[in-house]
Amino acid sequence: MDLFSQIELDPIRKRIEELSQLIEKYNHEYYMNDTSLISDYEFDKLLQELIDLERQYPELASPNSPTQRVGGEINKTFRQVTHRFPMLSLGNTYSIDEIVEFEARTRKLLGSIPFSYTCELKYDGVAIGLTYKGGELVQAVTRGNGTIGDDITSNARTIATIPLRLRGDFPDDFEARGEVVYPYDAFNAFNQQREAEGEEPFANPRNAASGSLKLQDSRECAKRKLMFCMYFMMMHPSLASQYRQCDTHSGRLEWAKQMGFKVQPYIQECRDIDEIRAFIEYWDQARWNLPFAIDGIVIKVNQTALWDQLGLTAKSPRWAIAYKFKAQQVSTPLLSVSFQVGRTGIVTPVANMEPVWLGGTTVRRATLVNADFIEKMDIREGDHLFIEKGGEIIPKVVGVDMEYRKVDASPISYATVCPECGTPLVQLEGEAGRYCPNSDGCPPQIVGRLEHFVARKAMNIDSLGSERLQLLYNKGLVKNIADLYDLTMEQLVGLETEADINGRRSTIQEKGAENIIAALEASLSVPFERVLFALGIRFVGEVGAKKLARHFKHIDALIAASVDELAEVEDIGNKTAQVVADYFKDPFHLDIIRRLRKAGLQMDIVDNQRGSQLEGLAFVVSGVFSDFSRDEIKAHIEQHGGKVVSSISAKTSYLVAGEKMGPEKLKKAEKLGIPILSEEEYLQLVNK
Ligand code: IVH
Repeated sequence: MDLFSQIELDPIRKRIEELSQLIEKYNHEYYMNDTSLISDYEFDKLLQELIDLERQYPELASPNSPTQRVGGEINKTFRQVTHRFPMLSLGNTYSIDEIVEFEARTRKLLGSIPFSYTCELKYDGVAIGLTYKGGELVQAVTRGNGTIGDDITSNARTIATIPLRLRGDFPDDFEARGEVVYPYDAFNAFNQQREAEGEEPFANPRNAASGSLKLQDSRECAKRKLMFCMYFMMMHPSLASQYRQCDTHSGRLEWAKQMGFKVQPYIQECRDIDEIRAFIEYWDQARWNLPFAIDGIVIKVNQTALWDQLGLTAKSPRWAIAYKFKAQQVSTPLLSVSFQVGRTGIVTPVANMEPVWLGGTTVRRATLVNADFIEKMDIREGDHLFIEKGGEIIPKVVGVDMEYRKVDASPISYATVCPECGTPLVQLEGEAGRYCPNSDGCPPQIVGRLEHFVARKAMNIDSLGSERLQLLYNKGLVKNIADLYDLTMEQLVGLETEADINGRRSTIQEKGAENIIAALEASLSVPFERVLFALGIRFVGEVGAKKLARHFKHIDALIAASVDELAEVEDIGNKTAQVVADYFKDPFHLDIIRRLRKAGLQMDIVDNQRGSQLEGLAFVVSGVFSDFSRDEIKAHIEQHGGKVVSSISAKTSYLVAGEKMGPEKLKKAEKLGIPILSEEEYLQLVNK
């Protein structure tokens, strides 16, 4: 760049810097100190100005610009990185006696040296390490196996409580370690949204946090509202020795707070075992008032100079230990057992119990899973049940409190008919659950079928969520999937939900109705294999639907197929073949298909074959690729006439190997003499 254009860019560079600093200041106040210094409108205006400038002058955009908070980068893979300092784990125990032993041992080892401990929360999330150089975040890596982790920098940049640039004084080169947690409020909202979209909810905030950090699209990660709790400052000892603040662990965390990190205030310096014990006992109860999950307490020697002296055991430091909370357990009387019909017709027994306070919430109900569970636990009428809440949000029945067992307690009588529609329940051979077979006439199953039909992997009609489908069903407008395509604007506009517990109602507006009609129309181009999956035939998942569609190519051929012909299709077993044949014999289903066809849905395979270079060849695909996702490369093989198989055998023609491929597959391919292709070699083969 010549001198002239550099000078011309100076005011822009200055404005970018000014905007970045302002936005980071407002972000910091908002996320760290819960203070709003400016209106959302003003804030968005500043952010937009910065986005526009960076778009216009990309050479001036920094990877740590506050615009990166909303994400944008796509991670095809996560690069593996070796930790500069290994990420050790801590020795942990559920026993207070072992904490007493730890304290006594430490005191003995240190003899007459004066020292103290810090007690702090053990955050229940995902450990990561953040490297800062010259005050800028340069890399974020997951713990992995402690030696090697995944580079998740672009996702970490979207977490509001991770500073991108540090404030005030800071060491030139260090690592901030801490835990990424998913605060309860954000986690619950996210799970509710998942359920509304027909996706499986996450079992607990930790799993959800871990999944979020591995999202390929950092914009999605930004939406998750994760939080970073810093608990450790790691740096080279020669650098640490230059700063007095680094002499103690608590001093390091205090300093980190000034640099802009979120350091939880619940940290206490303790002098002896009594103070440690009091801290543990306090948090064992008080943890349920926190806005995020913790699973224990971490106790560390506070004086960092003593860490070397105490040293390490095989895999954890001798200067720290974690106390883990036991799952909370109470016993409460079972009042009754009711039966709930799920969206798929499965009937689940539910224990209704005397309300009891457990782990921060009042528990009234818990699942009894199925008849086998009740039998195995030997749960009887009038029993008192032990319920437990561990890392999971949902309470679990873990046993019967035999102290209250009455001599004449009778067994639980299991439902024989569906509580929703009265149909006698059936039990499939080899399965523990009982289900209601009236799939086309039982209300929760009808709504469940509608939800499945509109789901992302099926017809992808995202303007119809669970609530709206329930509304359309309640109003009698939609009783099956074909009815959806008869909906009109007149029917939709002004449709009002029933009042929720707060008496609030919501109404479908003109715009909402237009979106629904447009989404239904767009679904007409969804390929046949997904239409087949969307029908929701029992046991026919995404893969089965694809195999059936490709084999029969047209709905009429599928309808005409015998059980034997169906069972010939790869991956379709006898049980599924029978269910599919029965499905297409039912006049009700045939009428639905007739109406869907009339509405314009795809009922045959549109040939997307692009070539037949790979005809007769069988491929195994393994590992991670740079230009394709694994699914894309598989589709590519099929589009060129090849076949994709899941495991290596003598019949395999090629193994297409990406990065991080399992060593077992490689070994097997080598043993059988199967040629191995890189992504590039594969493309050469296709293009030959
Ligand atoms: S200190 C060498 N402090 O617990 C010391 N760890 O095995 C390193 N954890 O997965 C850890 N809260 O991610 C420390 N306040 C805290 C913590 C904490 C949670 C996690 C950590 C690791 C495990 C310890």
